Amino acid sequence: MAGGDDTELLELVVGDIAGGGGCVGHAPDGRVAFVRHSLPGERVVARVTSTTSSFIRADAVEILDPSPDRVSPPCPHAGPGRCGGCDFQHVALATQRELKAVRVADQLQRVAGLARDVHVEAVKGDRNGLAWRTRVRLAVDQSGHVAFRRHRSHEFKHVDHCPIACDEVMQTGTFAAPWPAVEELEIVVAPDTGESLVSVETARNSKPRLPEITARMVLNGRAQQRSGAVHTNVSGISFRVSAGVFWQVHIGAAEALTDAVRSMLGAGHDDSVVDLYAGAGLFSVALARDVGPGGSVLAVERDRRACADAEYNGKGLPQLRVKRASITTSLVERGIGRPHLAVLDPAREGAGTSVMAALHGHASTLRRLVYVSCEPSSFSRDIRVLLEQHWTLTSLRALDIFPMTEHVELVAALEPPS
Ligand SMILES: C[S@@+](CC[C@H](N)C(=O)[O-])C[C@H]1O[C@@H](n2cnc3c(N)ncnc32)[C@H](O)[C@@H]1O
Repeated sequence: MAGGDDTELLELVVGDIAGGGGCVGHAPDGRVAFVRHSLPGERVVARVTSTTSSFIRADAVEILDPSPDRVSPPCPHAGPGRCGGCDFQHVALATQRELKAVRVADQLQRVAGLARDVHVEAVKGDRNGLAWRTRVRLAVDQSGHVAFRRHRSHEFKHVDHCPIACDEVMQTGTFAAPWPAVEELEIVVAPDTGESLVSVETARNSKPRLPEITARMVLNGRAQQRSGAVHTNVSGISFRVSAGVFWQVHIGAAEALTDAVRSMLGAGHDDSVVDLYAGAGLFSVALARDVGPGGSVLAVERDRRACADAEYNGKGLPQLRVKRASITTSLVERGIGRPHLAVLDPAREGAGTSVMAALHGHASTLRRLVYVSCEPSSFSRDIRVLLEQHWTLTSLRALDIFPMTEHVELVAALEPPS
């Protein structure tokens, strides 16, 4: 990639939203331009931030014809060249959801070959798109001050608070405290139980002097106080989540996703279910209750600490078995038995087409599969494998568990040909 000339300014009119949070326009030389901080239909002056032979990335720095959906960003750190965390602070919340719906429908059409209207639903818990993050990762500069990174950069943007973080994150005092000799921090809170934890990472395992804050701390993976985990309740079930283990970030996401997965999957007594990419067992534990003692749930997850949490969270449910393994084509072909129902919730890169083909190999015994995804492009690529084998997408929901950002969560049910 050629370096961008950051003094270069272009005037252009932008169209639809694209991946990466920018809208698509054309530079005078015909190259496609992805313009962040703009909205469809706007005429803007854009500052070029990087270029390749085929496209340009730019930030809208002056809005000549503003969209009626433009708002003043609620976060003082948002905007061109500032904090890189949010993409849509300048967009009315309802419009953010419409933009996400357009992007999902576009990916489904272009990648999966499926025409579908998409509606992005709000979930409970945030305040007008703010105060929803229960987990925040922060960088720390040489002088021990916390910062976020600027967009597509390692440069620091110092912040005193983050409006998309929930109140309990701010109440830990982490943003204001000094963190000398620390490289990175992750704040994790469970607002329902009042527990909070800060994971501290240092270079070369050095032992810095940690500040006095209200949260418990974990230093390079070692709990400094009694416990290195938080506990949280989802629909009446208590979960332990250890430092470093994946958990849904939005304050209402764990419950919204569990409800969506359970109702789409329709697991009944005595069913056998496989939960792939199971994390700390968020779906597995609820599904183990649904199938009852005559059924079975196999939770597959590669992270050792997540597996330990899933086992702990499933205690008293002998029908739940946790298997620590990497999900590969051969594991899906030969290592998951013959389930009636499958759930998969991979990371952003998706499960991959060969794992999907291996799941199709279970079509004769599988009744339904529910795919949970935070990335419409890998989701569309993956489900295409099943659609080409005549599976049907019977249900699709899009949930706004990442307000103010371009991201969206999909939950979809697919059924094999009868
Ligand atoms: C998006 S999280 C979902 C976890 C859980 N469903 C939840 O909602 O809390 C994805 C999980 O997949 C795990 N994972 C990623 N790639 C994996 C692989 N190839 N094999 C097994 N687990 C994997 C990660 O460790 C993470 O816990």
